[in-house]
Amino acid sequence: MLTRQESIDLLSEYGRGEGWIKHCFAVAEATARVGHILAKRRSVDGSFLWSAALLHDIGRYRTHDPLLHGVEGYKLLSMSGHEKEAFVCASHILFGLNAAEAMQTGLPNRDFIPRTMEEKLVPLVDYLIEYDQPTTLDSRFLSLRKRNSGNMFFLDRLDRAQQRAQIFMSQIEDETGESVEKIVASR
Ligand SMILES: [Fe+2]
Repeated sequence: MLTRQESIDLLSEYGRGEGWIKHCFAVAEATARVGHILAKRRSVDGSFLWSAALLHDIGRYRTHDPLLHGVEGYKLLSMSGHEKEAFVCASHILFGLNAAEAMQTGLPNRDFIPRTMEEKLVPLVDYLIEYDQPTTLDSRFLSLRKRNSGNMFFLDRLDRAQQRAQIFMSQIEDETGESVEKIVASR
């Protein structure tokens, strides 16, 4: 398992001071805040959560394509033996890809659907941070629709991704009695 410092070193090595790594740090910090609140009620692997959140977009060192950056991150981290974090790179795309979709995007032929609390927290918080600023689920998806108007594969699956994010966010809010958007926005 990657330590906090190893994850930072890896991101620095591939991010080379580019702007998108600010997003990665913002997602890691906000995910940790939500994880911390959840950890009062259930077991959360805070160390894995932070590393996976920090590295979820590492594939952006090769491409900013809305699908393929997840594939590139998956390849990079799985080749270096970090399977669990690699899975999050792939499965944060559209809040999960089934086996057929995974194959179409260049991933192995199996489901990449986030199942654990940690795996689901990363894509949720990712959707609540635009660049390095907190936003709401509704405005983030509006912005994703505008920015990717030419990508039908991505666009066709955005409603499903939004539904998955919304359902999971409501689950956390029912459990904790707190607004996830507020936790993400509080610094
Ligand atoms: Fe991403």
